[in-house]
Amino acid sequence: MLRIHLRGLILAGGFATRLRPLSCSKPKLLFPIVGMPLVESMARWLSSGGINQIILAVNHLSDKLKIEVGHHVAGVPVKFSVEETPLGTAGPIRLAANLLGRDDPFFVANGDIVSDIEIRHMLAVHEETNAEATIALVSVPDPSPYGSVLTDPNGKVKKFEEKSAVLSATSHVNAGVYVLSPGVIDSIPGGRSVSLEKEVFPKLVRNGRMQSWMHKGFWYDIGRVSEYVRANHELLEKQELKAAKPVASEDGGEILRPSYLGTRTHIGVGAKVGPLAILSDNVSVGDEAIVRNSIIFEETSIGEKATVEGSIIGERVVIGKRSRIGNGSIIAGQLTLPEGSILSPNSLILC
Ligand code: GDD
Ligand code: MG
Repeated sequence: MLRIHLRGLILAGGFATRLRPLSCSKPKLLFPIVGMPLVESMARWLSSGGINQIILAVNHLSDKLKIEVGHHVAGVPVKFSVEETPLGTAGPIRLAANLLGRDDPFFVANGDIVSDIEIRHMLAVHEETNAEATIALVSVPDPSPYGSVLTDPNGKVKKFEEKSAVLSATSHVNAGVYVLSPGVIDSIPGGRSVSLEKEVFPKLVRNGRMQSWMHKGFWYDIGRVSEYVRANHELLEKQELKAAKPVASEDGGEILRPSYLGTRTHIGVGAKVGPLAILSDNVSVGDEAIVRNSIIFEETSIGEKATVEGSIIGERVVIGKRSRIGNGSIIAGQLTLPEGSILSPNSLILC
């Protein structure tokens, strides 16, 4: 069926505690995924599936996100639905009822998903099975950090348990992407925080109204640092396979593939960048500096002869000349490390 309105609500009101200290100064939706802010990557994906209105469900601390996003992302109109107090994963859906409308099914996605889940296919399954909710599933090696799902052979959900030891025997987990019929909004209690996973889904399952759809493509929940890094590395390698031209430094440094250089990056003479160096826009790498296996957020500068290995450096950081950043370190955004700083492996430099 051709729909005029296909709306997608992104849950973006959490506090991203598992991404600290990087999330102190940057909302999760603005984290770069191979140089592209997550919100843009999600908007491109949703719009490729026909979604033509995005609603960002945020908390009252999200000024930065509002300023960055404005009224459109990747050509898709965006509206904000702002909570005064955190309403969980279901409460924001009820709060945004007027923006979601009463006529059509709509999509809901957790605000930390990078995937190519086929929106149109999911919607078709939702309509064919007359479900109230259709949930995308993915298969993962360790289901324990996710919502585990048991289905019957037709894909009808028989059991949903959030982060459960009991159901963890199944490798099929909630991908954090759903199609919901407008009736679901009425089943969400108002005025308090409500969990989709713990309150709304189990009820839909009991009523036999929850369908699943198995996703076979790529999927990451970047809400944990290890998964954030994995998403960047794997997507970088995927992009490199398709890349029309090799990454090149016009400034005299050496770039080892796979690597990604954003726009207006500067690589100094004799610098060595890569493999697995992901530099967002406006990053500068000083003469003879070394950056490998690291993710560098935008506008950060790495001083002459500094070495950064296996690390994540936040936005607008200044790393002084001849500093050494040991493997596994994370440096919060907007900090300055003086010349000659030595960070032992796995250092966390907080905001
Ligand atoms: N607006 C709003 N308000 N959003 C919220 C709130 C809130 O009070 N609390 C959390 N969120 C958002 C988060 O920002 C995130 O985008 C999404 O809801 C899910 O929260 P996470 O904290 O990332 O949950 P999770 O990763 O532990 O588990 C969820 O995602 C897994 C898949 O990635 C669950 O849905 C699991 O069942 C699922 O498997
Ligand atoms: Mg998550």
